[in-house]
Order: sequence, then structure tokens, then C-alpha cells
Amino acid sequence: MKMLGPIPQPGILDISPYVGGESKVPGVDKPARLASNENPLGPSPRAAEAFERAIRELHRYPDGGATALRVAIGAHHGLDPARIVCGTGSDELFALLASSYAGEGDEVLYSAHGFLAYPIVAQSAGATPITAPETNLKTDIDAILAAVGPLTRMIFLANPNNPTGSYLSKSEIERLLDGLPDHVLLVLDAAYAEYVDRDDYSVGHEWVHDRPNVVVTHTFSKIYALGSARLGWAYCPPAIADVLNRVRQPFNVNAPAMEAGIAALGDAEHFAVSKAHNDRWRPWLAEKLESFGFTVHPSVANFLLVSFLPHDAESVRLFLKSRGVLVRQMGSYGLPDCLRITIGTEDELAQLMAGIEAFLFQNEPHRQ
Ligand SMILES: Cc1ncc(COP(=O)(O)O)c(C=O)c1O
Repeated sequence: MKMLGPIPQPGILDISPYVGGESKVPGVDKPARLASNENPLGPSPRAAEAFERAIRELHRYPDGGATALRVAIGAHHGLDPARIVCGTGSDELFALLASSYAGEGDEVLYSAHGFLAYPIVAQSAGATPITAPETNLKTDIDAILAAVGPLTRMIFLANPNNPTGSYLSKSEIERLLDGLPDHVLLVLDAAYAEYVDRDDYSVGHEWVHDRPNVVVTHTFSKIYALGSARLGWAYCPPAIADVLNRVRQPFNVNAPAMEAGIAALGDAEHFAVSKAHNDRWRPWLAEKLESFGFTVHPSVANFLLVSFLPHDAESVRLFLKSRGVLVRQMGSYGLPDCLRITIGTEDELAQLMAGIEAFLFQNEPHRQ
């Protein structure tokens, strides 16, 4: 008799596993890694040293309350540490929020080209992910509000959004909040907030103070360059912080990551150099790509979404990969004509552009 084995909860087998950016090219020692929106300059040396120091105490359990880290984050951002909950990356916090506030029969909303972790956490919680259409690759507040129904429990919005690079202004989010019932939780994912320089942008902590249904999540994986340490945090209304503190694992954040996070917050110089690097090279890359006739979608983050039409984006990606340059395919985001390119080091961007020129030379020799 055939044994069936344990059966997962409804919805689990409908999940498409998250596929991260590629990191290796056979035969290439150090590929240009422009597929995962990492800080190409690497972590603050102070953060790396703090991490190393902490590994000597690996036999000790970490502080389950992440007190020193929460106090450091609170002091850095002018926030109440009691409302901060830390996690193993912001991904963990998305999952905890989804499983705490949504379940079978509930709907979790996100925008059509929203971050693909959101449907995964919704389905893991047994809920149904629902997308709202975008306008010009930007979250459309009216479409989100129109999609809110009696089954909606929560909304995930990345601001700025990955992979489109677009952002929502303060007044657009206020309009959304004004139209949203209090029992619907809005999770604002601020993973790329540090890169934004727009007067009409707000990361949104004020809404966490004013409203019962807004959470803002942050990561140390992007400008703070600690992706491998897995460190994120959520700023929450007190009742939501209380819920997260009940459901999270008691020691969910490891001590070296916490020490590295505290040191990273203290290294203002490394932060400024990282920001200045992005401010310099993002417009440079956009201009270069546009000069070749490609459509570069406006981005306020550390990456560009680029349409390679009339060329086949996958052929461009594979050609670049064969030369040791990794960029992200966008088919899984429903944008098969596009690739997403992280702002790398000067050398990496030079390799990228040389690769694109070589691709064009091969495919459109008449243009040369
Ligand atoms: C929009 C967005 N949110 C969150 C994350 C993941 O953050 P973490 O590394 O903290 O889990 C990413 C990473 O690519 C992202 O693009």
C-alpha cells in the first residue's frame, strides 16, 4: 500500500518558492553581482569588527529582547524602543505579521509589481494574496482602495517599491490611510528608504504614532550592507508590538547580527559614502542606458528597472552572465521585457556597460 505521508496546510503547495538573485557564474572567480540590490561597497568595517568580536561568545544565547539594538535604533531614529520588534531580516517580520493578522478565507493585498515575498507570506498563513493594478509601474492608491473588501485583512506596500523603483508620496499614503478601515493593517516596507531624496516622501513613523493599523518595516540588508547577518525591525503600534513579541521565536535575532547592526548605525561616514555612491552612479547608469535607446524606469532606490525592447531581455541577461555580470530577470514579476540592475561599484558598472555594448554590437552591428 502506498503511504501518503503528512499533508501540508491548504494553500502551501500553491506557493511559488522565492527565487533569489544569482550569485555565481561557473568559471568566473568574482562575478559582478548586480542581481540582489546589495550595497556594493560592503559593510562598515566597524560593523564587521563588531560581528567578529561577538562570535567569540557564540556559546551564549543572545538577548531575546534585543534591548541594546532596539535602544540604538530608537536613539538613531528618535523612536520609542518599546515599539520596535527586531527580526531575522524584515522577511521574518512580514511572515509573523501575515500569520498573526490573516488566515484562511482572508485576503492580503499588494500592488501588481510588489515584492514577491508578500504573496508567499500570505499563502503561508493560509490567506489569499490579491493584487491591485498599477499605473505606469507605480502603486495606484485608487486601485488599492477599490480592491479593499470585507475579506481584506492587510496590505503590504514597499515604499520605494522593488522591483519598479517608484515611490508613493506622503499625501498619497495619507489618502490611502484616510480611506482604510482601522481593522485593515497597512505594512509599509521601507527597505530602500535610506536612498530616497524627495521632499514629498516620508518613511511613515508618524503614522505608526497616530494610527492603530500602520507598521513600518526596515532592513539592515540594503544601505547598511548586512544582508548575510539577516537583521530587520518593525516599528509598531503598542498592540501590534505585543502580538509580534508573543509569536516570534524567543531568540530570533543572533548576537553577532545585533552587534553588527549597532555598530553600523554608529558609522555615519560609511552610510554617507554608500549614499553618495548611489547618488552618483544611479543617474550615470540611467543616462548611459537611455543613450542606447533603452527605457529606464525612474528609480529612487539602489537599482534600475530597464526595458530592453526590442531586444529579448533574457538574451541580454544570459549574454551578460556569460561575461560574468549578473542582473535579475523580471519574468517572475510579470515584466519579462525588463531586467533589474543594482547600482554596483564603478568597475562593475563599467563591466556591465561593456557587456551591453558587446551585446548590441553582436545583434545590431549596423548601429556601430
Ligand atoms: C522591498 C523589499 N523588502 C524587504 C527585503 C528583504 O529584506 P530582509 O533582507 O531584511 O529580509 C527586500 C530585499 O530584497 C526588498 O526588496
